[in-house]
Amino acid sequence: MRSHTGTGEVWNHSKEYVQDVPGNIFHSIFRDKGNKGRGDDCLQMMAGEDAILKRKEIKTPDRTFLLLLTERNLGAQYPGMILYSLRILSGDAEIALFRTNTYEYPPSSPIHALGVVQAKADEWERELLSNPPECKTSYESRGIGTSGEARTPDVLILQGSPRPAGNCSVMAGWARDAAAHAGKTAEVIYLDDLMIRACIGCYQCYNTGTCIFGDDMAGIIRALSAARVVIVCTPVYTNTVPGSLKVVFDRCQAYHAHQVLNGHSPGKKGLLFSVAGRKGGENFSCITKVVDAFMENIQIRPSGRVLIDDLDRTGDIRNFPGIELQIRNAVERVV
Ligand SMILES: Cc1cc2nc3c(=O)[nH]c(=O)nc-3n(C[C@H](O)[C@H](O)[C@H](O)COP(=O)(O)O)c2cc1C
Repeated sequence: MRSHTGTGEVWNHSKEYVQDVPGNIFHSIFRDKGNKGRGDDCLQMMAGEDAILKRKEIKTPDRTFLLLLTERNLGAQYPGMILYSLRILSGDAEIALFRTNTYEYPPSSPIHALGVVQAKADEWERELLSNPPECKTSYESRGIGTSGEARTPDVLILQGSPRPAGNCSVMAGWARDAAAHAGKTAEVIYLDDLMIRACIGCYQCYNTGTCIFGDDMAGIIRALSAARVVIVCTPVYTNTVPGSLKVVFDRCQAYHAHQVLNGHSPGKKGLLFSVAGRKGGENFSCITKVVDAFMENIQIRPSGRVLIDDLDRTGDIRNFPGIELQIRNAVERVV
């Protein structure tokens, strides 16, 4: 995947899905989506959500291209965020796309989003006239996420404890069994097994709906987008979630961006199962807020909790038989 170049240059899909056509500056971005009826439909669709800043026909000996620059106000998500999209359309096909947004450029930056996208429009126009592309490439959208196994369970269980036989692992197993008993597919993801980088706050996901990092998070997002129920099993660590789970929550910003750009898919339900070593309900006051914030950020409706305090040793939870039933009931209520 192409990383940030410092000039706002970022493509909306991983380069690995686009063939190179050497000798042309468009080589990494030209593609044919194969979407029929895109041309004017595309314009109408964009006119609905995006304001058209520039629309220019560019005639080459071969054919006529349309260079289209639009802006979308994402201020409802982030104050002052504007997403610029520059497209080259040829008949029904969208053959190139460049995006950048205002959050990529700090106030001290000598360049800014509108300037960058306008310069790119000028560059593309010059290049179309001097060296029009002849080659279309095949393009296949794989939706959100770019790597990792395709997981699409009905019930996704995020297990945040690093202890493989700890209390949260036990709870996750009970939850998976309950989902299976109800006829649903369920998968437990042990976050400590994965390699996931922390979010760096580049905001490039608001250009693309995907993260610039192609690590194990892609598989989690794919599973999250498919699941109807998301269960978080987590211990309380320093009053909040363990670091690996917090990294996942933060990296879900790319999924949030995907929803902003492509529409939400409401109807998901979320459960929280948590354990704390100390005694008292107040030990969960922070973690419940953190988990609710994660769920609300990606349109998951918090739909139940089981919180168990005064539990420290690995697997202690098995000594409290009533808890297994609480967990099974909570899962059966939402699946
Ligand atoms: C690094 C660390 C931080 C912890 N912080 C808290 C805490 O702030 N409050 C608390 O009640 N328990 C805390 N605990 C205790 C765990 O929540 C408790 O041992 C829990 O049962 C572990 O769950 P597990 O068996 O699923 O790993 C902490 C444990 C560790 C290892």
